[in-house]
Amino acid sequence: MKQNQFIDPLLHLLEIKSISTQDEFLPQMEEARHWLIDQLQSMGFKTRLLQGKRHAAVFAEREEDPKLPTVLIYGHYDVQPPDPLNEWKTDPFVPTIKKGKIFARGATDDKGQIMIHLMAVKNLLEKGKGKLPVNFKFIIEGEEEIGSISVEGLARKYAKNLFKADYMVVSDSEMVEAGQPSIDISLRGIVYAEVFVESAKQDLHSGQFGGVAENPAVVLARIITELKDKNNQVNIPNFYADVLPPTKEELKDYNALKTTSAKIKKEGGVLSIGGGEAKYSLNERRWSRPTLDVNGIVSGYVGAGSKTIIPARASAKISMRLVPNQNPKLVYEEFEKFVKEISPNTVKVRVISHSDALPYKAPTTDPVFTLVKKSLKKAFGRSAVFQGVGGSIGFVPVVASALKIPCIMLGFGLPDENLHSPNEHFSIDNYLKGIEAMSDFYQRLKQEV
Ligand code: BES
Ligand code: MN
Ligand code: MN
Repeated sequence: MKQNQFIDPLLHLLEIKSISTQDEFLPQMEEARHWLIDQLQSMGFKTRLLQGKRHAAVFAEREEDPKLPTVLIYGHYDVQPPDPLNEWKTDPFVPTIKKGKIFARGATDDKGQIMIHLMAVKNLLEKGKGKLPVNFKFIIEGEEEIGSISVEGLARKYAKNLFKADYMVVSDSEMVEAGQPSIDISLRGIVYAEVFVESAKQDLHSGQFGGVAENPAVVLARIITELKDKNNQVNIPNFYADVLPPTKEELKDYNALKTTSAKIKKEGGVLSIGGGEAKYSLNERRWSRPTLDVNGIVSGYVGAGSKTIIPARASAKISMRLVPNQNPKLVYEEFEKFVKEISPNTVKVRVISHSDALPYKAPTTDPVFTLVKKSLKKAFGRSAVFQGVGGSIGFVPVVASALKIPCIMLGFGLPDENLHSPNEHFSIDNYLKGIEAMSDFYQRLKQEV
C-alpha cells in the first residue's frame, strides 16, 4: 500500500535517538545522518556532510535541468531530550501509531515534517518516471535544537555556491488548527542567557549564618522580579527600541484568526492566560511582541524533607523571544549590563549567553506565495491563512537573507502535538496531505515560474 511506503521510512527515522544536546548520543546523531544520506542517494541525490561546531549537517542535491527553478529545503534531524520520561505513555523512541497519530520524540519536530519533503520527492519520481519537476537541494541540520550554532559559518561558506537556490522551503512549525492549512509570515528570534549568583564558598548553616550571610536565592529572585514590571513590560533599557510593529496587513491576518483564550488554554493545558502584555491581542502577544521568561531556577536543597541551609549559589536560565528588528547581540549586552546594575555588591554575579537566533519576516508579496496557496487548497480543501510563529528557527533568517530569496514556511504540525514535551505526536492525515501538497507545489513551480 502506498501509504505504508511513505510511513515506514518515517517510523524508522523516529527510532533513532538523535538528541543533539547530550554527547552520549553522538553515535545516534551519526546514524540519523547516514540513514538520511542513504534515503537521498537512493533517490538519485548527490550528498555530502557539512561539518558543524558539534554536529554535521546533511546536504544533498539533484539537478534536473539548470533552466528549472531550484528549491532549497531545510529541516533538522536532531530532537529534544525526551524527559520527563515517566510522563510518556509509550516509549519515545518506539514510534507507536494510535488513532491516526504517530507518537514519538521528533514526530512533529521535525522528523515527520522533513520526511514530508523527502516523500514528496519520492512521489514525484514515481509519477514522473524518474524525472523531477524542479531542481532540489536539501539541508538537514543537526544543531537546530541547540541554537543552530554553526549557521553563520555555513552561510558564509556556502551561500554563493552550494546553497544557491531560488526558493527556500521549511516545514518546522504548525497549522493554526486541524484542517486549516497555514503559511508562516514571521518567526521570533531568541536570546538565551544564564545568571549565576554566588555568596559563599559552600552552603552555610542557616541558624549560624542566617542574618549575617547574604542569601543568593533571595538575591536572584529580586533580580528576576526586577526584569519585568507588573504589566509584564520588560525593564531592560532599550529593550523595545528596535521593535518593528506589525503592518496593517499583518494585523489583519492575525486578527482574522479569532484566537480565543479558551483555544490557547486547551492547546497547552494552561490554567489561565498570563505572563504577557494584556493590552495587546493574544496573537500579537505570541507573534509580534518580545517576551522574557525564566526557563529554570536552581538553588539550595531540593531533596525530600527539610535541610536548614543558606545556599552558596543560585542560578537561573532566562530567555527572551525577539521580534523584527531586534538584534539578539545588542539585547544580550543590555541584559547583562542591567543584571549587573541591579545586583547588590554583597554577591558575585556572572552572566553568560547560551545561544541566540534572529527574528524573520517572510516576503509574502512574492508570487510564489499565491502558488503555494493553490497547492495547500487542493490538498486540504480549504484556503490557507497567514499566521506568525512564536518560536525560533535559527537557520532561516541567516540563510534566507544571505541568499536573498523568499523562505516559504509551511508547518504541518498541530498546536497540541506536544513538541518538546512528553507524548509528542504527528497526525498521519497531515503527513499524507503534506506530501500531496508539496508534490503539487513543485509541479506548479515548474509550470508557472
Ligand atoms: N520547530 C521549533 C520552532 C517552532 C516552535 C515552530 C513552536 C513553531 C512553533 C524549533 O525546533 C525549536 O524548537 N526552536 C527552538 C530554537 C532554540 C533552541 C534556539 C525554540 O524556538 O525554542
Ligand atoms: Mn523544529
Ligand atoms: Mn524544536
